[in-house]
Amino acid sequence: MRAIAVDRFKGEARLVEIAQPSPKPNQLLVQIAATAINPFDWKVADGIMEGAMPAVFPLVLGQDAAGTITAVGDKVTRFKPGERVFGQFFHSPVGEGTFAEYAVVPETGTVAALPAEIAFDTAAALPTAGMTALSLVETLDLKPGANVLIVGATGGVGSFATQLAAANGLRVLATAGAKDTERLRHLGASELFNSRNEALIQDVKRAHPDGIQGLIDVVSDGAALTALSGLVSSGGSVLTTVFAADEKALSARGIRGGNFEVKGSSALLTRLADVVKSGKLLAPIEQTISLEEAPAAIVRSRAGHSGGKTVIRLR
Ligand SMILES: NC(=O)c1ccc[n+]([C@@H]2O[C@H](COP(=O)([O-])OP(=O)(O)OC[C@H]3O[C@@H](n4cnc5c(N)ncnc54)[C@H](OP(=O)(O)O)[C@@H]3O)[C@@H](O)[C@H]2O)c1
Repeated sequence: MRAIAVDRFKGEARLVEIAQPSPKPNQLLVQIAATAINPFDWKVADGIMEGAMPAVFPLVLGQDAAGTITAVGDKVTRFKPGERVFGQFFHSPVGEGTFAEYAVVPETGTVAALPAEIAFDTAAALPTAGMTALSLVETLDLKPGANVLIVGATGGVGSFATQLAAANGLRVLATAGAKDTERLRHLGASELFNSRNEALIQDVKRAHPDGIQGLIDVVSDGAALTALSGLVSSGGSVLTTVFAADEKALSARGIRGGNFEVKGSSALLTRLADVVKSGKLLAPIEQTISLEEAPAAIVRSRAGHSGGKTVIRLR
């Protein structure tokens, strides 16, 4: 089968021809219809999991996927061949990824039935960024009407978080360049800020001299996050997905939150699918590409400036 893999950590992703995997007794074999790129994929290629988990080479990249089960191991009880599923297929060993025509996932992993109303492309865009955004907005735990600044709102996590925060009645202040302003307004942002770092802090201060109640940040390093956190009033909430928070310093200022790591689950995927079915959440798909185009798209993801999700369609 065709797959996108690296031959070594820090190697270049390329199209390879490898054997189709077979499911272990507790695994599902899924024919992938669509998969999507997350920054985690190139972080894995760069070796973020090196030493933490066994790895196999060529190391097939990718963790989010949607497709149809074609076979199940003999201990599997929750799923049957022919069922449509989606999820975050990441499991040990690293390298049995979803940028491939087929992938395996443990039935107890982060995988759920895909409702008939949701297309494979949409479903592939949901798992990592959608579960992260849903959990971030819930963990913020702010009352309707509160102002939350989302830094990195234009990307995968930020585009989902903007919609979910607005749907919860929060006022979303979103960072966005000129090309993304209208899209972010359409997703529910109330105020747009086309500035970064110190200029962003000054712009938000001018608009909200008494402070804001929440900050979701998916890009800033430690120093930048500390500076941005100064916008948040005591009793508010700050969350970062890139482990940049000084949690002691936040807590000393009476601010909740800190470094956030998503805990994916089948139940969370099902809740996400329910929100999509209700029409309150759109998958922010920026582009749909072929497997052959994936290596170049991984390079673009690493360079930043994502305008939402890149979906790789396999069939
Ligand atoms: N901890 C967890 O559990 C968890 C879960 C999911 C993701 N993550 C991490 O969270 C990060 C974001 O993920 P993602 O999927 O949303 O990535 P993404 O799709 O690449 O989006 C990042 C966005 O941030 C924007 N950006 C970059 N620098 C910025 C700045 N200084 N100010 C404002 N916006 C800026 C980029 O576009 P422009 O520069 O064009 O505006 C881009 O749209 C990644 O590092 C990912 O690995 C962590």
